Amino acid sequence: MQFQWYPGHMTKARRAMQEDLKLIDVIVELVDARIPFSSKNPDIDQMANGKARIILLNKSDLADPECTKEWESYYEEKGFLVTTVNSKSGAGIRIVQDKIREACREKTERDRKRGILNRPVRAMIVGIPNVGKSTFINSFAKKACTKTGNKPGVTKGKQWIRFNKNVELLDTPGILWPKFEEQSVGLRLAFIGSIKEELYQIYELAALLLEFLNREYAGLTEEFYQIETKEGSAFQLEAIAKKRGCIKAGGKLDMDQAAKYLLDDFRAGRLGRISLETPMGDMDV
Ligand code: G4P
Repeated sequence: MQFQWYPGHMTKARRAMQEDLKLIDVIVELVDARIPFSSKNPDIDQMANGKARIILLNKSDLADPECTKEWESYYEEKGFLVTTVNSKSGAGIRIVQDKIREACREKTERDRKRGILNRPVRAMIVGIPNVGKSTFINSFAKKACTKTGNKPGVTKGKQWIRFNKNVELLDTPGILWPKFEEQSVGLRLAFIGSIKEELYQIYELAALLLEFLNREYAGLTEEFYQIETKEGSAFQLEAIAKKRGCIKAGGKLDMDQAAKYLLDDFRAGRLGRISLETPMGDMDV
């Protein structure tokens, strides 16, 4: 399956983000815990220009906990501060505040030596579309004390969400674009629903997901759909179509509808907590 991506319209977003980056002390980058590599845009590393960095493995409720632990260690070894969150339920949000403070400890210490006291640490959320940036900011705002209005000077026109007197978060996220030179990265993004449907064949995508699930999570599909164990994604999709009553006018099985059921069940976490890649690179799609 071939994917293409035209990042032309991202140029403006990139420029806006570069301006916002000047206002902040720490970059909080959201990635999808099911694909912490494929949902991360490596270009942010150059744009970050030495700023403190935090990675949040978001949607951790949907990912395989064992794999998520491996990813935490992987990014920690690369020098990031890392934590897992579920922005939808709010789980883990408070820990983010501690991580932000930890990331800026040196800076706060420098400020203190210069006699600057209680200057809040400023953070900004970045990530590719659909990774959960707005959901995170909403959850953060709910737990925060105040929303600060426009302030004079460099922050003119910007809204900050104040967690306490120490931490502030810019209320607009920086949007990164998915980047994939490798088709496997594009495929993983399509599995989680981060690529427009027009760009792929739904049946083909579902068949590839089934092949992955059969290899890495054997027996799971059969158990969930209560279908017979038999080799082959075509057979399984047909069995799902029959079970779910996917019938077209004229009585033929609607295989695209069955494919959609499978993808929706996977994306919503109904099939269970599933990760699509490990830091070892030993999960093929
Ligand atoms: P974005 O700003 O980065 O583009 O992402 P956004 O917050 O819009 O979130 C995209 C989707 O991901 C939303 O689902 C949101 O609810 C879901 N989401 C965000 N964080 C989490 C999480 O930690 N766990 C889970 N399970 N889902 C999360 P949606 O289907 O577009 O909306 P809705 O039906 O949930 O309201």
